[in-house]
Parts: sequence; structure tokens; C-alpha cells
Amino acid sequence: MWRLYFTPTTIDEALTLLDRDAPRARIIAGGTDLLLELERGQRPGVDTLIDITRIPGLDRITLDDQGWIHIGPRVTHNQVLASDLLRDRAFPLVRASWEVGSPALRNRATVAGNILTASPANDTIAPLMALGARVTLRSAHSQRTVPLAEFYTGVRRTVMQPNEMLVDIAIPALGPRQRGTFRKLGLRKAQAIAVVNVAVVLTWAEDGETVEDAAITLGAVAPTIVHATEAEAYLRGRRLTPEVIAEAARLAVRSARPIDDIRGSAAYRRRMVEVYTRRALQALAQGDVSHEVPARPPLLWGQTPPQPRPLPVSASHPPDEIVARINGRVMVFRDAEGKTLLDLLRDHALLTGTKEGCGEGECGACTVHLDGAAVLSCLVPAARAHGADIVTVEGLVQAEHLHPVQEAFVHDHAVQCGYCTPGFVMAAAKLIEEHPHPDRETIAHGLSGNLCRCTGYYKIFDAVAHAAALARGEDAPHEGQA
Ligand SMILES: Cc1cc2nc3c(=O)[nH]c(=O)nc-3n(C[C@H](O)[C@H](O)[C@H](O)COP(=O)(O)OP(=O)(O)OC[C@H]3O[C@@H](n4cnc5c(N)ncnc54)[C@H](O)[C@@H]3O)c2cc1C
Ligand code: FES
Ligand code: FES
Repeated sequence: MWRLYFTPTTIDEALTLLDRDAPRARIIAGGTDLLLELERGQRPGVDTLIDITRIPGLDRITLDDQGWIHIGPRVTHNQVLASDLLRDRAFPLVRASWEVGSPALRNRATVAGNILTASPANDTIAPLMALGARVTLRSAHSQRTVPLAEFYTGVRRTVMQPNEMLVDIAIPALGPRQRGTFRKLGLRKAQAIAVVNVAVVLTWAEDGETVEDAAITLGAVAPTIVHATEAEAYLRGRRLTPEVIAEAARLAVRSARPIDDIRGSAAYRRRMVEVYTRRALQALAQGDVSHEVPARPPLLWGQTPPQPRPLPVSASHPPDEIVARINGRVMVFRDAEGKTLLDLLRDHALLTGTKEGCGEGECGACTVHLDGAAVLSCLVPAARAHGADIVTVEGLVQAEHLHPVQEAFVHDHAVQCGYCTPGFVMAAAKLIEEHPHPDRETIAHGLSGNLCRCTGYYKIFDAVAHAAALARGEDAPHEGQA
């Protein structure tokens, strides 16, 4: 785990630290990959983290004069989901971010981190490659831009040097004659690593019916993401009839070199490449695909986008103390090296309402609010709490009144052993703030990162709908008081 944690406030400072301390030091963004790798001993020798999430301006999504979209290195998957620009002009990426983990995970996990972990199963790489993305890498001494197609050298290997930082992801914005989408097969609906994923971007000729150009990329079927080159070539100059779609899907399989692993056999993956390529092409042939992602997906932000609180000066832990506002009280911590925010809350602040289930982002029991968004505290380094505003389940009670979600959980018997409950309550509190009238599907999506072994989910979902009504003042409050 980490021993030293730097929180610079400028890119130059981050690059100087990286240049000095690499390869012992690594950049950390959301930490949802890196913390687990450190925990599992998969990054031997790394003991220093450089947190770039407090550097202002790195979370922007912009369109330049040449028609390129720029995505900053701190942009999270949820920020992708909230971006109208990306929805309109880079939909396959939005569709992929929608498939990553769960809402609370997506509040920390970044697109840059997804690219750089470089697993062939990561979801955003295939769409970014189909869109023709490139990344800009900077060190203290130089800067270069590399097309994503030339970025990967093998499983979890890239051309990036240890002293380089990714500072920009650029995508040519889709034009009026282009449309694209993404498909993922996982072993469950949420929190699933891809067995296969497929991204397709098509350019139509002037007639609006003939395919002028096609990009089809496949994930989890080779050491790196690959283009289905034979299928792409076949589609050029053809109309998307059912026969053409079926043949292109069949040809896509030829580019896949899958292996057998715990998630599926090579034969199954080959078959699924055909099925998922066919489905993506069918969807594009039918027209608009934007309905594939809800217009207002649950982000667990509440009413306003989260804003990491800026730091007036850079920090270095240790020797600096971690000073955080927790449930409205300023608290000071030392000796938190190697710890997570979950450890800090439970062991140092003695706020034991927040629970540890899996310790690796899968169960949601550790959900808290960090700078306004629901996050998984087991995947947040303790030092990230410095200068932050944190709310735990203990902080939901206001003026001795239970929060509407707490009240509804009691009233509707949405609790059995109670171990998962604080996590559900924290996620649901943000959900109903953001979606005052949540339908069943919105509740299911919003809570897709929270697991319960006891109740099943019916009563929990009922309680969340009830809580929303309570929050709207439409239902008499139950007797519950803190
Ligand atoms: C429970 C769970 C579910 C998940 N589900 C999915 C899923 O469905 N699909 C999927 O694709 N992934 C999934 N992931 C993986 C992970 O969440 C994503 O890959 C995420 O996008 C990583 O982003 P991050 O900001 O957390 O990266 P980090 O962990 O912060 O960093 C990842 C790597 O990139 C490096 N890095 C980050 N930013 C920079 C930068 N700007 N410059 C240089 N180096 C940098 C870090 O040093 C590290 O090596 C899941 C993870 C968990 C724990
Ligand atoms: S998600 Fe954090 S303990 Fe399970
Ligand atoms: S109530 Fe026991 S795990 Fe959910």
C-alpha cells in the first residue's frame, strides 16, 4: 500500500514529483484500479501516490475549433454520462461509461484510468479506438501525442513511460453522417467485467444508406483491443441489409483471438463477438441509438454536480495532517499511511456506521458522500479526505430527525441484519435528491452497486420510492426519530 501521498495543485508540480520519484511513484486519479493492485501486491515497489484530482481544470470536456473533443484526465465515467456534448458527438463512449461498474464507482473512476490500466476487457478503450481517439502524454521534459491505436503493446502494457502523465484524451467529434454504439456482454447486469465488448462507428455516404466507412473494435478477445478489419472492409460501400449485417458479424469473429478463462471459453467468446457485432449493427441500421442510455441516468450526485474542494496549497502526507470536515465537524488525522477512507472513518474517527463488506468496490456497504457525491470509501485513499467534505450515515440525521430514507427503511422493513443498510441509505439519499420521482428502473440502476444478502431487493426498492414521497412531503412521516 501507499507510504507517501502527494496532492499537488498544478500539473507542473505533479510532473516534477513523478520525474523525481518514478517508478516508485504513480499518478492516482479515482484509484479504483490502482488501490486494488497495490492491495493485491500487483505493483511491487510502488509506495508513492500523486493525486491529480485536486488540480483545477482537469475535469473539462470541450470541443475545439477543429472538431476534436478533449477530455481531461480527471473526467469520471459519470461526468461522461452527464455530458450533452459527448452524448451528441461521441455516443459510443457514453454507452461504454454507462456499463462501467456502478454509479458510486463511476463517481471516482476516470476514463483516463480506464485507458491506462490497459486491460483488454476495459470498457472505454474499444469505443475510443473506434472513434479514432489519441492521448497526449507529458513529462517534466517533453510532450507527445499518440493515437490510441498505437498506444497498447500487450495485456496491461502501453508505450507510456513511468515519468509521463496523460494530460488529454482527444476524439474527433462524430459528424452528421456518422453514428456509433457499444455493446457489452457481462455475466451480470452491473459490476461485471466484459466477457466481450464491441464498439461500432459507421459513416454513411451522401445517400444516407450506403456505408462509406466502418470502424469495429473488439474487447476481451485478444491481448489488446483489436479492429475487426475484415468486417470493416466488407461493410464499405454496402447497405446494411440483414444479410450484410449477418456476414459482417461473421467476419468480425476472424479478428478475435480469445482465450478460455474464468468468465468464458474461447468458443463462447467467438460466438458472442458475432452476436454482439450483429446487434450493434442492427441497432445502427434502425437509426437513433441515444435511447440506449437513459436521458438522466442516476449519478448519485444529488441536485448539483460534485465539486472537489480546491486545496489552497499542495499537501504531502505524511508529514502533513489530514484535515477533513466530517458530518459538519472538522477532524484532524495522523498516521493514516496505507489506509483507505473507510479505515479512517471507522478506526480513526470511530464512525462505525460505515461498513466494510468486500473491501474492493463490489458491495456498496462502505458508501459515503465525498464532496457531494456518493463514493465507495474502501476505494478512496485516506489522504484524499484532506480538505474534503464527507458525510457518513451518522451525518444524515438532522436536528434529531431521521433522513426520509432512514425513516422509510424502518417503516417498510427494508432491513434484516442491517449490514448493507448504511450503504443503501447513503446511495438512496443521493438518488432521491437527484431524482425526486424515481421509477423502479431508476431505483434499480441507482442502487446497482449495493448488494444485500438478506432482504432481497423488493422492500428496499419500495422503501426508496416511499422515501422519495416523504422527501416531497407527500406522505405523513412515520414515528421514527433519532
Ligand atoms: C468493483 C469494480 C468494478 C469495475 N467495473 C468495471 C467495468 O465494468 N468496466 C471497466 O472497464 N472497468 C471496471 N472497473 C475498473 C476501474 O474502475 C476502471 O478501469 C476505472 O476507469 C479506472 O479509473 P481510475 O480513475 O479509478 O484509475 P486509477 O486506479 O486512479 O488509475 C489506473 C491506472 O492509471 C494510472 N493513471 C491514472 N490517471 C493517470 C494519468 N492522468 N496519467 C498517468 N497515469 C495515470 C494509475 O497510475 C494506474 O496505473 C471496475 C473496478 C472495480 C473496483
Ligand atoms: S464496496 Fe466498499 S466494502 Fe464493499
Ligand atoms: S439486510 Fe443483511 S445484508 Fe442486507
